[in-house]
Amino acid sequence: MSANAPKRFELEIPIAHDRELEATKIAEQVAEEMQFGPDCVAEIKLALIEGIINAFEHSGSAMQKVLVEFAIHDEELEVVVQDFGQGFDASSKPAAARPLQKRGYGRRLMESLMDEVKYFTSPQGTRLVMKKRRPKRA
Ligand SMILES: Nc1ncnc2c1ncn2[C@@H]1O[C@H](COP(=O)(O)OP(=O)(O)O)[C@@H](O)[C@H]1O
Ligand SMILES: [Mg+2]
Repeated sequence: MSANAPKRFELEIPIAHDRELEATKIAEQVAEEMQFGPDCVAEIKLALIEGIINAFEHSGSAMQKVLVEFAIHDEELEVVVQDFGQGFDASSKPAAARPLQKRGYGRRLMESLMDEVKYFTSPQGTRLVMKKRRPKRA
């Protein structure tokens, strides 16, 4: 039989200082409900902050908002950050970060914190899709 339909939440965040924190509160609630432990909850929140800050900082969006979606699947949590900016070439990975050179860590960090990180990007915007596998039940 097919898996259960995912439970979904969607949140619209204005592009403004500190507004990404609203999404992390929801992320925390969702992740705790899914029985992620404190370390995983912190990882999900940090990856989400990086994704949203990138959308704020780099999207060049004329629309002053980003969308954040959470989908609770049987096996994983899916977190999406959608912006309406100009997109970018996601196939070119940022050059290896150098000591004291703080740019270019965000994408690497998200990849190390989450199990899957994918970009779907076009001149109409960027959709960042991140997945974290649900912890094994004891
Ligand atoms: N949502 C986005 N829209 C447009 N460009 C993006 C987006 N997210 C990431 N990028 C591009 O990817 C680059 C690398 O992002 P990141 O690793 O977080 O480094 P940093 O934010 O420090 O530049 C950014 O400099 C930017 O060019
Ligand atoms: Mg960044």
